[in-house]
Amino acid sequence: MIVLGIESSCDETSAAILSGNNILSNLISSQDFHADYGGVVPELSSRAHLQIIKPLVDKALKESNLNCADIDLITATAGPGLIGALLVGLTYAKGLAFSLNKPFIAVNHIEGHIFSGFLMEDKPEFPLLTLVVSGGHTLLLYVKSFMEIQQLGTTVDDATGEAFDKVSKMLSFGYPGGPKIQNASKIGDEDKIKFPVAVLKKPYNFSFSGLKTSVLRYIQKNFSNVNDIPEKEKNDIAASFQKAVVIALMQNTERALHNYDVKSISLVGGVAANAKLRNEITILSKKYGKKIIIPSLEFCGDNAAMIALRGKSLFESGRQDSLNAKPYPSLGENYFHTS
Ligand code: KG4
Ligand code: ZN
Repeated sequence: MIVLGIESSCDETSAAILSGNNILSNLISSQDFHADYGGVVPELSSRAHLQIIKPLVDKALKESNLNCADIDLITATAGPGLIGALLVGLTYAKGLAFSLNKPFIAVNHIEGHIFSGFLMEDKPEFPLLTLVVSGGHTLLLYVKSFMEIQQLGTTVDDATGEAFDKVSKMLSFGYPGGPKIQNASKIGDEDKIKFPVAVLKKPYNFSFSGLKTSVLRYIQKNFSNVNDIPEKEKNDIAASFQKAVVIALMQNTERALHNYDVKSISLVGGVAANAKLRNEITILSKKYGKKIIIPSLEFCGDNAAMIALRGKSLFESGRQDSLNAKPYPSLGENYFHTS
């Protein structure tokens, strides 16, 4: 079965072609210009998606040596994400499905991330403990099958990626913050400052706003303004912050490993690109004798291959969506498949 995937939820336009489990093409066009504004500008994002979507799909088909008529299933992200951005990819996909008279599946972006480990050659095994860390979400999930996802915990305030981006802004490193904090951390001392790690009443929930505020307080207390922070100090702050985030994430993951009997663990989403996090979760998986699957970097951030793969598993379970499917900005009622 040939599946076309389209992703346009934020600042990446992506088109992918799967043939069975093989990825024939996974093209990602990143809107780097948002860096000049310190974050994603929704209106500019929609316009950029609109310009690139058709050439990108055409290029993915060409790279796969296929044409439109060869596609068996069309899938696209319906949410959560920026509404105008989602609308571009979703409408394009629905139009294509209508004109080619092919089945269509509207995919939940987070479910795309959740199953992205299955894009790797070595696949996760159910039941699976999945840690989703992206710019908009932080979730710890017990995944029994492609259709049974149980949420154990979520963030009560900022998402992990959001915290990286905000601290990066405080240090005037720029956007997106994750890779910049990671680079600074490589030469910083992660034991220089002890930033707090939140412990919440609900065992698997996360909170990053206290940590973010203590970074801000530390900067305000020790420096008159951000331009006065010496480079070395900035690197130490970045590394100490990154360490606190990783401890918070690993704390809950380890707790879940005590209470849920899983066969494998997977780390997914944009922040899964973080080298320290990848390393620490690998150490944890070894400690508990679990198989660990972390997608390669191309499949951690937003990509259409994960959307095509998720769409395919839904289609195989008997689902087919109407061409009236609407985009949705937040998870809301479009929560995960629980049965
Ligand atoms: O999953 P994603 O590409 O988009 C959303 O669905 O949100 O995640 C983007 C987030 C951004 O906040 C970015 O700063 C973060 O992932 N990120 C990282 C790294 N690379 C990207 N965070 C920490 N370390 C990284 N190496
Ligand atoms: Zn994402």
